[in-house]
Amino acid sequence: MSALFITFEGGEGSGKSTQIRRLAARLQDRGRDLLITREPGGTPEAEAVRTLLVSGDVARWTPKSEALLNYAAREQHLEQVILPALASGRTVLCDRFMDSTRAYQGYAGGCDMGFIDALERGIVGPTRPNLTLVFDLDPAIGLARAKSRGDAIAEDRYERKGLAFHQKLREGFLDILRREPKRCRLVDASQDIEAVAEDVWSIVEGAL
Ligand code: TMP
Repeated sequence: MSALFITFEGGEGSGKSTQIRRLAARLQDRGRDLLITREPGGTPEAEAVRTLLVSGDVARWTPKSEALLNYAAREQHLEQVILPALASGRTVLCDRFMDSTRAYQGYAGGCDMGFIDALERGIVGPTRPNLTLVFDLDPAIGLARAKSRGDAIAEDRYERKGLAFHQKLREGFLDILRREPKRCRLVDASQDIEAVAEDVWSIVEGAL
């Protein structure tokens, strides 16, 4: 079985964490050796950077600073965790990756895309995901879900950015889907959990 790098993207409250767990169980049943990880995070240093990004005042970082912090965390995560796992033949499931920087800091935050392109080339380079599932959902529903879940209450800095930010974010992810239709696949996250899990499975099965 060859190593596969699969990433999960989308707005707040789109259910990707639940679906990663569901997919992981199915892949493990089929004998895949998995690494499940997340961004920003996945190493102690990257988790420390995550805390700086997801908490505190909404306007504490400029979009460029956010892009740099996310890429500092990503560099640690790639070098110390993702690349070694892929090299040893493991399948990596990552909750958010480079497309989140493009969508959150670029499309929604207004950070210059050329700046983000350069970071992507310099840090991600050839280690682009084999498959990216983009969970699409009306942000009004996603934000309400995230709020009612009340999880990670201290991690709500982006949730507090307001609906207009989250609408631009959704458009950004849809544009990423249009630009890279081979790598990126849309998942309709407005369906119930079982239906989403079936869609995810049929896309992943096709990629295996
Ligand atoms: P999560 O809550 O989905 O785990 O993600 C943490 C937050 O960080 C989420 O609001 C999206 C944001 N984020 C960025 O803004 N840029 C990035 O590059 C990444 C990976 C996440």
